Amino acid sequence: MKEKLEALKSHAVEEITKINNLKELENIKIKYLGRKGELNTIKRGLKDVPAEERPSIGELANKTAEELEKNLEQKYEILYKESASRKLEAERIDITLPGDYIPYGKQHPLTATINEIVSIFNRIGFTLTEESNSPEVETEYYNFDALNFPSDHPAKDMQDTFYTVNAENLLLRSQTSNSQIREMEKKRPPLRIISPGRVYRSEAISSRKYNIFHQVEGLMADKGVTFGDLKGVLNEFTRQFFGQARPTRFRTSFFPFTEPSVEIDVQCIICSGKGCRTCSGTGWLEILGAGMIDPNVLRIVNIDPDVYSGFAFGVGVERLAMLKFAINDIRLFFNNDVRFLEQF
Ligand code: PHE
Repeated sequence: MKEKLEALKSHAVEEITKINNLKELENIKIKYLGRKGELNTIKRGLKDVPAEERPSIGELANKTAEELEKNLEQKYEILYKESASRKLEAERIDITLPGDYIPYGKQHPLTATINEIVSIFNRIGFTLTEESNSPEVETEYYNFDALNFPSDHPAKDMQDTFYTVNAENLLLRSQTSNSQIREMEKKRPPLRIISPGRVYRSEAISSRKYNIFHQVEGLMADKGVTFGDLKGVLNEFTRQFFGQARPTRFRTSFFPFTEPSVEIDVQCIICSGKGCRTCSGTGWLEILGAGMIDPNVLRIVNIDPDVYSGFAFGVGVERLAMLKFAINDIRLFFNNDVRFLEQF
């Protein structure tokens, strides 16, 4: 039996040195040291060994097992290190290689323009309204009636405004001025707010007009606000947006919710006069409407017009973007042609 054990040991040691991978190692371990392995098979013969030899043979069997285990362990360590370094080698990264090109996402020119307008008015002291005060799906009351539109005003016509089929008097707002009413219903002067958003009009689409466009509404109300404040704020805005060099003009106008009312034009930067599609050859582009808040509107929201006054304005975002980036067709903003968008 002693010889058998020694033969087993030398066989096993030889096989262990030949092992190439962890799977083989596992198999060899089972073959020799497993429950039904060769060592146990030999050990089962222990009962036939004369009693006085049993202790020393038993000890030899245990020693053999220990040694094989040690051998296997060493082999395991070698194999493990090898496979780890093979893995590292395979996954080696060359940090000097140039990175993959990931194209930048960019702001849409309208988003960029809205952000710029908002930040200019922020600097002048106006803050954003909550979005809930500026819904795009609106009732006739907030879009027209509370803004002092007479019931027979042509803007209320289906020809000009998109009404929904969902409920009577529900429409897609034609102006951001609804936010004036919603704001003043909830808050009392002093107020200095701006509210950007999307508006809808049922209009024939052309290079200058689109069914969807954007406005930034603004409002200031307090004791003693005058037309001089309106001029000061809006001149400062145009100065910051266009720079000193771009002439503007204030032109008298009419809106039901302001009195007096003005429109501000800025000189067309695209045209050289006749035949310009952007300004219809007038040389001027309207960029915003404004005026002193009509006393009727203040009364509707329970603000006393004898105590408070204010002004409001609505900036046309597409107009400003067209001027800033020299774009001659409003439809370009909405086609989402990447050749156009990539230029910004
Ligand atoms: N809501 C007006 C328009 O869409 C613009 C405007 C806003 C005029 C605020 C005066 C005051 O034309």
